[in-house]
Amino acid sequence: MTGRPSSKVSSAQQDLHPKLAAVVDAHLRHAWQAPLHPPSVDAFAALQAQMGEETRTLVLDSGCGTGESTRLIARAMPDCLVIGVDKSRARLARTGAAAFPHREGNALWLRAELSTFWRLARAAGWRLRHHYLLYPNPWPKPGQLQRRWHAHPVFPELLALGGQLEMRCNWAIYAQEFAAAANRVLGTRASPRLLGESAITSPFERKYRASGHRLYSLSLSCEAGGV
Ligand SMILES: C[S@@+](CC[C@H](N)C(=O)[O-])C[C@H]1O[C@@H](n2cnc3c(N)ncnc32)[C@H](O)[C@@H]1O
Repeated sequence: MTGRPSSKVSSAQQDLHPKLAAVVDAHLRHAWQAPLHPPSVDAFAALQAQMGEETRTLVLDSGCGTGESTRLIARAMPDCLVIGVDKSRARLARTGAAAFPHREGNALWLRAELSTFWRLARAAGWRLRHHYLLYPNPWPKPGQLQRRWHAHPVFPELLALGGQLEMRCNWAIYAQEFAAAANRVLGTRASPRLLGESAITSPFERKYRASGHRLYSLSLSCEAGGV
């Protein structure tokens, strides 16, 4: 990643999106029926074959980019299998692997589209210990609401994977919306906090920190009711 400072997120939206609650409720009423992404279905099957009879507890690093955070999480949680998933071939190539799934010790990377991956993981009965979502694309235009993960139709499936979820971002409104949507689904009362230094970090986190951005972390248990 280059050393150029990164611009803060700018948006015409200055508060929670007025349609957020209605959108989340609609997604809860109707299970998402959109077709799965075929290459990601194949990737998930290859992952399951590679995992074999894996008995370790699972941790996901969703949208892992270059996979650096996956390595750090895997080091911090040696008893878990930590799976980094991203759709970008170019970013994943920075892991040093040429093909995916690729495993190194208790870290494993997969190239897949997340909304298909999460649905397949849910259908396969996965229960996570932790789920990291570090710096998802913010989609800051008001008209892009449903591209934000918390307003996307797959959001209930993502939460249903369970575990302790940590979402980090550099846009306060995204963090507040994510908290509001998750609380609505799960009946929790989580709220984002300012993020201090963390042993688990990522290239985007470093870039935003070096550019003087405020960083937010939302941590909540997805074990609570709801989904
Ligand atoms: C802003 S980057 C953050 C990367 C990394 N987590 C970090 O903090 O350095 C967002 C990442 O999410 C990935 N991404 C966005 N939408 C995705 C999707 N639908 N499926 C899989 N990956 C996705 C992008 O390819 C990108 O690597």
